[in-house]
Amino acid sequence: MLRPRRTSSILISPNAFPSLPTVQEATTAAAAASLNLDIIQGDILIGMTKIVERFFFFSITNATAFKSILRNDIVPLITSTTQLLSVSTQPTTALNIAFSQVGLQALGITDDIGDPLFTNGQEKDASGLGDPGTVNWVPSFLNKGIHGVFLLASDTSSNIDNELNSLLSSLGTSIEEIYTLDGAARPGTEQGHEHFGFLDGISQPAVNGFTTTPHPGQEVVEPGVILLGESNDPNITVRPSWAIDGSFLAFRQLEQKVPEFNQFLVDNPIQEGNLTAEQGSALLGARMFGRWQSGAPVDLSPLFDDPELAADPNRNNNFNYTHAGFDFTSDQTHCPFSAHIRKTAPRADLSPINVKNHIIRSSIPYGPEVTPEEASSNTTTVERGLAFVAYQSALANGFHFLQQTWANNPKFINNKNISAPGFDPIIGANKGQPRNTAGLDPTDANKNTTFLIDFVVSRGGEYFFSPSISALAGTLSA
Ligand code: HEM
Repeated sequence: MLRPRRTSSILISPNAFPSLPTVQEATTAAAAASLNLDIIQGDILIGMTKIVERFFFFSITNATAFKSILRNDIVPLITSTTQLLSVSTQPTTALNIAFSQVGLQALGITDDIGDPLFTNGQEKDASGLGDPGTVNWVPSFLNKGIHGVFLLASDTSSNIDNELNSLLSSLGTSIEEIYTLDGAARPGTEQGHEHFGFLDGISQPAVNGFTTTPHPGQEVVEPGVILLGESNDPNITVRPSWAIDGSFLAFRQLEQKVPEFNQFLVDNPIQEGNLTAEQGSALLGARMFGRWQSGAPVDLSPLFDDPELAADPNRNNNFNYTHAGFDFTSDQTHCPFSAHIRKTAPRADLSPINVKNHIIRSSIPYGPEVTPEEASSNTTTVERGLAFVAYQSALANGFHFLQQTWANNPKFINNKNISAPGFDPIIGANKGQPRNTAGLDPTDANKNTTFLIDFVVSRGGEYFFSPSISALAGTLSA
């Protein structure tokens, strides 16, 4: 049966986002780097938010039956990078799949794919990530009960329902649902913005073999930073051949305490020059992230938002925190050392420029908009947050490293002439204890801020491996 052609994309693409290569450009770049974009699952390199996305977590209850259905019915539905790139080849609902370590075991895979964090599972890493143990975790993420996840993306949830229903009827009793999380782009002009209101998805690394024309300031990485077995994969020598061109998917359900965050901004406006209280609150929020809600970087626009700068991908990443006449070791008047985007991508703060700790983010908001009651009581009563998805070839260099070694480490960035930049004010986690952050107030370099609560609360997650489509059709379903 012929599938109907799409006329509009599953992906959202605000002007601020880096542009995607055309299929022709990507195919040429991939050939030069000996990559095959037809076998790489679509979510990995594209790094874009979808209009709606469902994460369906399952356990395998009958491996023999599951493998045969995987090979015959599911593999043909898996959306490749090439397919997802062009609206005309996007399916009605894009489908990707990834497995946890226990899931690979259930399929009879005994190979070590060379990533101890993946092998142990995320629950073991909870304290390493700064979570206060697993008290806040969604119970489904505990006890290694999840074998795999389907990622279903489309522009309507009814498309997703249809695709999932047909998948589930093929799968019968070979799997059991463990948990489902529904993500959706926020409504209207908030599309592309996470729940605190900030545009998310602007800075992604350009991957050689995929991105043809990096935007100014966009860092370029070798494909092996994201894909196993490719150039610059730090553990290339230990990968089994079937794992080549797969990627580790770090999934985190990160609850966002939006009314509490907004209240914090209202209570602590930065008092600078002629700023109104409202402008001072907006400036504080921008300095916590390193970007304004529009996406304009504070390093280039330190006092006021600049929506035109935000919307221009040739300018909105073209900064590295250095400025003529600046004392780079102490000056935080443009951007705090602790700002979320500076902690997770320090640009010129590290020399030589860091090339290995990059991830591709492919997250989506979940949960409803703030209700009037929540806004007026400044208290969250309905859960909302970010279904965080990050791809990398080594969790110890990617998500885990960014969270543990940079965001949660008060001393990082550590070559500065101040006692400590403090925690990342957005995602920094101190096992539920208060966190200190310095540098948020441009008028007082010595001022410290203590956060008594976390605005982002980890509800747990799992580490998955997103295999190549050829591995799904071969070793994994054999
Ligand atoms: C609810 C949690 C989070 C929120 C609300 C959030 C929000 C944002 C926003 C608004 C940006 C700036 C726009 C952009 O470049 O896309 C950003 C950038 C970024 N975030 Fe997050 N983020 C969250 C969690 C995380 C986590 C857990 C990590 C990794 C441990 C992370 C890593 C990054 C990186 C690497 C960048 C790009 C920095 C750059 O290259 O300039 N984020 N995030």
